[in-house]
Amino acid sequence: MGKHVAVLMGGWAAERPVSLKTGAACAAALRDRGFRVSEIDVGRDIAAELVELGPDVVFNALHGPFGEDGTIQGLLEIIGLPYTHSGVLASALAMRKDRAKVVMAAAGVPVAEGITLSRFDLAKKHPMDVPYVAKPVADGSSFGVYIVKEGRNHPLEELARADWPLADEMLVERFIPGRELTCAVIGYPEGAKSFGVTEIKPATGEFYDFDAKYAAGGSIHVVPAQLKPNIYQRIQEMAVRAHEALGCRGVSRADFRFDDATDTLVCLEVNTQPGMTETSLVPELAAHAGLSFGELVEWMVADASVKR
Ligand SMILES: Nc1ncnc2c1ncn2[C@@H]1O[C@H](COP(=O)(O)OP(=O)(O)O)[C@@H](O)[C@H]1O
Ligand SMILES: [Mg+2]
Repeated sequence: MGKHVAVLMGGWAAERPVSLKTGAACAAALRDRGFRVSEIDVGRDIAAELVELGPDVVFNALHGPFGEDGTIQGLLEIIGLPYTHSGVLASALAMRKDRAKVVMAAAGVPVAEGITLSRFDLAKKHPMDVPYVAKPVADGSSFGVYIVKEGRNHPLEELARADWPLADEMLVERFIPGRELTCAVIGYPEGAKSFGVTEIKPATGEFYDFDAKYAAGGSIHVVPAQLKPNIYQRIQEMAVRAHEALGCRGVSRADFRFDDATDTLVCLEVNTQPGMTETSLVPELAAHAGLSFGELVEWMVADASVKR
């Protein structure tokens, strides 16, 4: 029997259903490759559960708050269990889109002009000229993303609602027209490498919203993205640079917008816990680069680490 891998999934963040899919896919692939696998739906008692179980490695298949923001990573550091993906600092930093942008910009990665403010202040007036994008500063899966354009109602009522399910802090960014691109990075010890760039074309709706991300046929992935070679190369370089500037480990995925009309390239965010079903963006790009899903998850387990 191979190593005992505990796959952490589920949890209580809004991205729970997505994480359950990632976890199930990674667990199946690891079993196929001879690992002994325990699937754990994460609750508040996760520390005790892991100490009791005593796996060799933790495969982190969580997405969103608690799984992607440095908190579960800190807990694993304290228990002393090697875990996959980024560590405490990179996870916490990448999760805060506004702070991550400061670090990325300092490293020469282009980012969109933006301001951070509470949803209540945003509900009062436009913080910048339209068009702009308002999104929670630390959430994923396009939850709570508003594209505010000319002649459209300000999303005032929704933002001020009492049962707002997300954190109060919002990031408002200049709207970057153009194409939606994403680039997967693998942090080989000898230096991070890109797996390539995908263009995402939402099939319905006007941006890469939740349905476009997860509904069957919600979006078309063009692999590799059809771009001028110099732009394709630039995106790969910027994704690797962002991965390194934030101090990521394992795999990460950087989201970009590119406007052909003005040659404007902007990095929106780095995902330290990208979706990992067999048809997700990172595995798809890994396959394009010659690494199967099974090989990828096996590499991730081998790459898992913890401070000594
Ligand atoms: N500044 C922007 N300009 C244009 N579109 C944006 C901008 N910010 C976000 N979007 C749209 O919203 C989607 C989700 O934004 P993103 O920052 O990647 O957050 P999430 O963590 O929800 O994926 C993007 O994939 C893009 O379609
Ligand atoms: Mg994104």
